[in-house]
Amino acid sequence: MDIGVIAVANQKGGVGKTTLAMNMAAGLTRRGSCIVVDADPQRSATMWTELSDSLREFPAKVVPAEDEIKKQIIQLQTEFDYIVIDCPPEIKSDSTISAMEISQVLLIPLLPSPMDLWSSTRIEELIKRVQQVNPTISAFVVLNQIEPRSAMSRGMDGALQEIDIPVLRHRLSRRASYRTAALEGCSVYDLGYRGQVASEEIDNIIDELAQ
Ligand SMILES: Nc1ncnc2c1ncn2[C@@H]1O[C@H](COP(=O)(O)OP(=O)(O)OP(=O)(O)O)[C@@H](O)[C@H]1O
Ligand SMILES: [Mg+2]
Repeated sequence: MDIGVIAVANQKGGVGKTTLAMNMAAGLTRRGSCIVVDADPQRSATMWTELSDSLREFPAKVVPAEDEIKKQIIQLQTEFDYIVIDCPPEIKSDSTISAMEISQVLLIPLLPSPMDLWSSTRIEELIKRVQQVNPTISAFVVLNQIEPRSAMSRGMDGALQEIDIPVLRHRLSRRASYRTAALEGCSVYDLGYRGQVASEEIDNIIDELAQ
């Protein structure tokens, strides 16, 4: 699958959009050139890189989304192999919709809690809406903050099967290293052995998408 332009979005806040976007970008810089477009007015992706020190800089550049984001991305495509767009926790904004118009992949982080799964009907609406403007986009739910050592409840698995959206086989566990990377302005790839398992999780997601 072509994964050149990846949008990370969910109308819900705090589900791991920026965490996934930033670590995916770090993983993609190991396979080619990559840039993050920060489309969230909260500017969390931009602030993330501002926390890094000169010894350990964030491996990808982050630029703010411009008013004409589509034009901006087409321009960036001439320079970068991969573009990751961190979207705000709402989808009605013009910039989010325009970003999705030219993305190849839409990743929707989802927490495996009942409340978040109940909101998944809204995710189906989100995808329908996106597919109206971009019929060829590939959309996937990415489960985030899975407890590493506890199996997902059967109820949760059942609820997931009812969602009419592809769910990536690989998931992100709840790990301190994801928080540490954000606090230190780096990615899980830059944490040495502390980030090893997490960076394998990100690599697995990239491989699953790229295959
Ligand atoms: N897999 C994980 N393991 C541990 N902590 C995580 C994980 N994913 C996200 N977090 C933490 O959860 C919080 C929310 O994550 P994040 O900021 O990425 O979500 P978001 O969807 O971008 O939020 P917003 O809607 O505000 O933009 C952060 O403190 C982040 O460090
Ligand atoms: Mg965010």
